[in-house]
Amino acid sequence: KLPAPFAVPLSIPPVLPPLTSEGTTDFYEITMREAEAEILPGRSTTIFGYNGITPGPTLSVRRGRTVVVRQINALPQRHPTLRYECTTSVHLHGNATPPQYDGWAEDLSAPGFFKDYIYPNDQNERTMWYHDHAVHHTAENTYMGLAGLYITDEGRNIPLPSGRYDVPLVVQDKIFDTDGQFLFDDDGQKELMGDVILVNGRPWPVLQVERRKYLFRILNASTSRAYRLALSTGEPFTFVSGDGGLMPAPQQDKTFRIGVAERYGVVIDFAKYPIGQQVVLRNLELKNNEEFPSTRQVMRFDVVSEAADLTRNEVPAVLKPGGGQDDPMALQPSQARRTRDWRFERRRGQWAINGLFWDPRRMDAAPGLNDVEIWRFDNHSGGWFHPVHVHLIDFKILDRNGRPPFPYERGPKDTVYVGEGEVVRLIGKFGPHAGKYMMHCHNVVHEDHEMMTNFEVGKGGP
Ligand code: C2O
Ligand code: CU
Repeated sequence: KLPAPFAVPLSIPPVLPPLTSEGTTDFYEITMREAEAEILPGRSTTIFGYNGITPGPTLSVRRGRTVVVRQINALPQRHPTLRYECTTSVHLHGNATPPQYDGWAEDLSAPGFFKDYIYPNDQNERTMWYHDHAVHHTAENTYMGLAGLYITDEGRNIPLPSGRYDVPLVVQDKIFDTDGQFLFDDDGQKELMGDVILVNGRPWPVLQVERRKYLFRILNASTSRAYRLALSTGEPFTFVSGDGGLMPAPQQDKTFRIGVAERYGVVIDFAKYPIGQQVVLRNLELKNNEEFPSTRQVMRFDVVSEAADLTRNEVPAVLKPGGGQDDPMALQPSQARRTRDWRFERRRGQWAINGLFWDPRRMDAAPGLNDVEIWRFDNHSGGWFHPVHVHLIDFKILDRNGRPPFPYERGPKDTVYVGEGEVVRLIGKFGPHAGKYMMHCHNVVHEDHEMMTNFEVGKGGP
């Protein structure tokens, strides 16, 4: 009794205006609370939402302005069914945030408390997301709905599609129980694979499109599921950005895999199709994903009219000149001060990095401030894939099993898909802040069950 696919329109998360502005600083206030949402048509589901909605409101931020977000935890004392205490920590994923505002997993705010997070927005433009990061309960809290977008001006200074032709797609999977509530079934702390696909909080929605180009900012905000996306027409996607902003040049591919927390900016040109054409965003087979017939499709685009507006209908051949000081795409292996090896594996029914479990007191690496390092991720865990995220930095993927990264991975990244038996090498510069940061698998069930560690930037050393 799953809801029918392609029966509801796509909705777009609302943009949150600042509460006040002063000089170069914008102040926002967000309240995390329990709320009811209509996700399945005609039914009500209890969620946790930033301002009571999921996905949360989008923060649309100008580069160069400082943002202060007061995050008020007004959640119930205990989760309605799982009964853990609803403490929170908010992480802005993709931002080089000073360590005290980075959503450290043990920097918890209890219900009834708030924390002000301060974000300098001095990095290049990008599509980020903010989400809960509470130690051992990130999976449950994000699954309940604590996730939203935070977009700096990515793509707005070049003639990529904008305005209503610039559409975020937050993709998630859920399991609903017979009462229409989210069921958290992580298969014995292994993974959560839902049979209902939501985009922007609605099941298999439809977007009516005009005959022109659209920019989609795709975020996989699922718990464990990865996707291998493709268009039903067999046409390729044009990739313009990765996690850390614009790619040097656009890339094409007919299909791409996207693990939890990865973002890709993708242009689709609907001028190729006649009015009346329906284009399904499909999800192809992916090793060690649990697929159901219902998870083979994500949403549908219905071509309904000629373009009302043909300005900004381009993909420039050069997206970003690059080569700047902090451009990870300009880094070369010869600049690296050291290479670190990280092994991801299953151990005693939990998930380990280099044989070790999460311990907030232990620092497993100490890069010097602004040191360039190569990190080598080795997936040793057999039948599992791990989307691995390094806080603070943007990186460039050097190779995977000795071969070049996929075309769509040739842009700045902060999360990398490390598939079964894969060894991925990346290069990044550890700055601009010193301090303690996390690195972990972003299958948040793995993260909560110990596949997370810390590094401390500043001292320089092993
Ligand atoms: Cu998206 Cu450590 O998080
Ligand atoms: Cu993992």
